[in-house]
Amino acid sequence: MTIAHRTVKLLDGKLIPALGWGNASSGLLGGGQKSIDAAKLAIASGITHIDTAQLYRTETETGVAVRESGAEGKVWVTTKLSEKEGIADANGVNRDALRKSVEGSLQRLGAKPDLLLIHNIEAAAGHIAPLWTALEDLVFDGTLAGVSIGVSNYRPQDIEAVVAVARIIPAVNQFEFHPYLLAHTEGLIALQKKHGIATEAYGPLTPLLRHPTGGPLKPVLERIAKTHNIDPATVLLLWVIAKGHVAISGSAKADNLKKLAAIDQLPDLTAEEVAEIDAVGRKIHFRGYKVHHVKDFPAPDLPEDLPAEGKL
Ligand SMILES: NC(=O)c1ccc[n+]([C@@H]2O[C@H](COP(=O)([O-])OP(=O)(O)OC[C@H]3O[C@@H](n4cnc5c(N)ncnc54)[C@H](OP(=O)(O)O)[C@@H]3O)[C@@H](O)[C@H]2O)c1
Repeated sequence: MTIAHRTVKLLDGKLIPALGWGNASSGLLGGGQKSIDAAKLAIASGITHIDTAQLYRTETETGVAVRESGAEGKVWVTTKLSEKEGIADANGVNRDALRKSVEGSLQRLGAKPDLLLIHNIEAAAGHIAPLWTALEDLVFDGTLAGVSIGVSNYRPQDIEAVVAVARIIPAVNQFEFHPYLLAHTEGLIALQKKHGIATEAYGPLTPLLRHPTGGPLKPVLERIAKTHNIDPATVLLLWVIAKGHVAISGSAKADNLKKLAAIDQLPDLTAEEVAEIDAVGRKIHFRGYKVHHVKDFPAPDLPEDLPAEGKL
């Protein structure tokens, strides 16, 4: 079904478009007509991969936009199981609640998604392995037949717990990733590679959008951007893709949507450019989404920010 040129091959053989568009960005969280319009504009601009979640309250809007664009089967759709209440508690996993939650997503989307992720470890309430087993059973009983399953914001210890019992290895782990998290995520990504679990990077533009100064990477991205006649944000997204990962960004603006969609056809960064971004990025530790990957996952001993731009 994939029509994108740049893809990442998942363990189950499916090709996921390497650039995804999330509808939790750019004020689209919460859904409504603006989310439908933005998703339709994204599809019309050439976006082939939509990332939604129960939490974003944009599943219905995603389904409507895909159908109204006549793009069924042409756009990759990922959703996430975000509901915490009732799925797992101190007593374990409530399989009926899990099924109901998954069926709710299928109903809101109006179709099966291509990929369904457990949104975060909180959904498991400590029962990481049993929750994965229960989700696998929904694939085996046909509820999620043909749907790839994976996780999000899982730490190394959570991936180990899942893999120890898995009959289906998670297709992906989606977490915040960009050059300022290279040092922190190195072990996690190595573990995922060992098991064939793809990395999906959300918040990829954090060094440019959320770091207070842009840090030492900003002038590097600007220089590389100039030589390719693209913008620094596009350089960052090409860098994520060059690392072999899926980049999940977003926008509700026509010009940025065009730039995101155009990434599919742009030439790769050179090996030297990738290496320079790696070298500069790994000197800083900075996280935009400070709620995930912070507990029991020690951060590297690196500066979070610079006293003044360019001083490192
Ligand atoms: N699994 C999780 O826990 C989790 C957590 C966070 C996010 N996500 C997913 O990942 C998606 C992306 O997350 P994110 O918003 O943090 O991604 P991001 O790529 O770091 O930032 C997206 C923002 O970048 C701006 N942008 C896009 N192209 C640009 C360009 N060329 N130049 C400058 N700015 C540009 C957009 O704003 P404009 O509208 O101004 O263009 C957009 O709001 C979310 O929508 C969601 O689907 C998942």
